[in-house]
Amino acid sequence: MSTAKKEYKRVTVKSLVEMKKNGEKISMLTAYDYSMAKIVDSAKVDIILVGDSASNVMAGHETTLPITLDQMIYHATSVIRAVERALVVVDIPFGSYQSDPKEALRSAIRIMKESGAHAVKLEGGEEIKESVKRILNAGIPVMGHLGLTPQSIYKFGTYTVRAKEESEAEKLISDAKLLEKIGCFGIVLEKIPASLTQKVSEKLSIPTIGIGGGKHADGQVLVIHDLLGMTHEFNPRFLRRYMNLYEDMGNAISQYVTDVKTKSFPSDDEQY
Ligand code: KIV
Repeated sequence: MSTAKKEYKRVTVKSLVEMKKNGEKISMLTAYDYSMAKIVDSAKVDIILVGDSASNVMAGHETTLPITLDQMIYHATSVIRAVERALVVVDIPFGSYQSDPKEALRSAIRIMKESGAHAVKLEGGEEIKESVKRILNAGIPVMGHLGLTPQSIYKFGTYTVRAKEESEAEKLISDAKLLEKIGCFGIVLEKIPASLTQKVSEKLSIPTIGIGGGKHADGQVLVIHDLLGMTHEFNPRFLRRYMNLYEDMGNAISQYVTDVKTKSFPSDDEQY
């Protein structure tokens, strides 16, 4: 296994499988708007996920369930305008693919056609097999998502670690194999034991991308607002914060308020 890092001018689903083969870890981050996507893409993140976590961090909902297909397409369109290198994957939101495979395909086509995205992501395994197949048959790359699947939060009841028990772990392994077999190019593994992530990653030739799945995943994904410390009340064990923007932005904005109130802004040099 080589550790040499190949330069990718444009990341494709093929590049990701190649990265796994070469032992190069894959970086993935969310973005939901043009300005943030430009920064994330310039920093050479391999995959940008227009996640339905936009429902939480952009719209302030408690869960990912309320966000609509139209809203996801709006976010995806803004991101696509900014991106030159990364592969852009868009979540198909809750209620836009669960009822039947035809609806799933229609939603995936709308995302691809209206936003210009490169791939879609759906949550689930065996139960959404026919929908995934139908989307793949239309030539649309699909990423899977197993483990803690936030669109099913009311079925789980909590956001705790999934698949700690043997039966759930076995189902997850069989779902992962199924998703690979039918043609998914990668799978997000959310909040599962590191040992299970290792097992799944070793069994598959397509990459696994972990969030709270430990170090054995072939890549890692975080929500950009969490990484930057904007969501200061969200403190799961898996989260590494690289900044404390909640505080830094708050301080900058307070300083602006003070400057306006004290008439120090604008100065003579800041006017025409
Ligand atoms: O919506 C999202 O941000 C996601 C990640 C947590 C993987 O699905």
